[in-house]
Formats: sequence, C-alpha cells, structure tokens
Amino acid sequence: MLFPLPAPAGASLPAEPWSSTTTLEELDGAINTCTKCPLGTTRTKFVFGVGNPHATLMLIGEAPGADEDAQGEPFVGRAGQLLNKILEAIHFRRADVYICNILKCRPPNNRKPISDETEQCIPYLRKQIQLIQPKLILCLGLTAAENLLGTKESLTQLRGRVLSYEGIPMMVTYHPAALLRNPNWKRPAWEDVQAVRKLHDELAAQHSG
Ligand code: URA
Repeated sequence: MLFPLPAPAGASLPAEPWSSTTTLEELDGAINTCTKCPLGTTRTKFVFGVGNPHATLMLIGEAPGADEDAQGEPFVGRAGQLLNKILEAIHFRRADVYICNILKCRPPNNRKPISDETEQCIPYLRKQIQLIQPKLILCLGLTAAENLLGTKESLTQLRGRVLSYEGIPMMVTYHPAALLRNPNWKRPAWEDVQAVRKLHDELAAQHSG
C-alpha cells in the first residue's frame, strides 16, 4: 500500500521566473505587474529603480510617495530634489548611482511599510543588489536598514558605522524627508555623506588597484 510521502524538511518551493533574470531590465519586466500584496492594486505606477546598472554606489529609501507613484521613478518629489543636492555636494550625479526603495509600490497616505508588504517585496530588492553588485550601499533612513539587516538598532546607533549587507559595505544616514522636517539634522547628515564619499573612493581604488 502506498502512502503519500511528507515533503522533506527544508524542501524549497519552485523558483519564481524573475529569480533567474540576468539584467535589471529583464527583472523589471518580470515583476512590474506584481500583485503579491494589496499595494499592487492601489498603485498608479510600479517604481522599480533608476540609475546606472553598474553603479558602485546604491542608495535605498523606503517607498514611493505620491510623485514617485505618478511618475514611476524613485525620489522625484521634494525629498528627491534634496537628495539630488546632497549627491551633487559629494560630486555624484544622479545618473552615476542607482536609486531604489524597499517597496516598489506606494503605501496609502505615505504610511510606513508593513511586514506583509516588505516580506513580499524585499526579494526583488535583494535581486537588484545581486545584479548591480555595488561597492557600497547607503540606506536613506531606518526603514531600509531595518529591513535589509534585520536589525532593531536605532538610526543613532547605526549612523557613523560601516555595516555589512551580505559582504557589501553599508552605511546609514537620515532620510531626506526627515531632513526637510528637521533641518538640524542636515549637519550630521553632511558628515555622513562625506564619510560615504570617502569610503566609496577607497573601495573603488581597492577594486581597481
Ligand atoms: N521617499 C522614499 O523613501 N522613496 C522615494 O522614492 C520617495 C520618497
């Protein structure tokens, strides 16, 4: 008599088609109709990410806001204008780096991402990082760091340190929207991004030397 065999412990689910993509364009095409969480039905546009596919510096924010949802590009609203100025101040052009978010779709009323949304969406970001292979990652705000590192440490505890995401050096600074709300944080943020520029250049020199 035959009995159905239980699945062996740790048996993996079949791989999803997007997981074998080999370029950002291909990945975007494979995921931009995603409806794994309810934000897939309320978004206007899917906000995949923008910039140099071979960027040495990758910036990761939280989630699209109203402007990003309308245009399909990350950091194009007020916070994005400030981010552009910050990048210019450390001699990066927006087109040199790669910019994306923890979530690809806008949460209603710009609320913080919830765990169901981040759990569904973060594998896409992990795949983007794998394809880009940046030398340095900068988290814009605590949400990005919390979700990528699984840490419960505060922004104050995380700033000023070189962390590691799967062997890739990572730093954390204030979210540009937080700087718009509290200009007192602009000076410490300036110190953070100068440290980012310095470390970036050291890492780039190591890899090319
Ligand atoms: N805030 C974010 O975290 N990301 C954006 O794309 C825009 C605003």
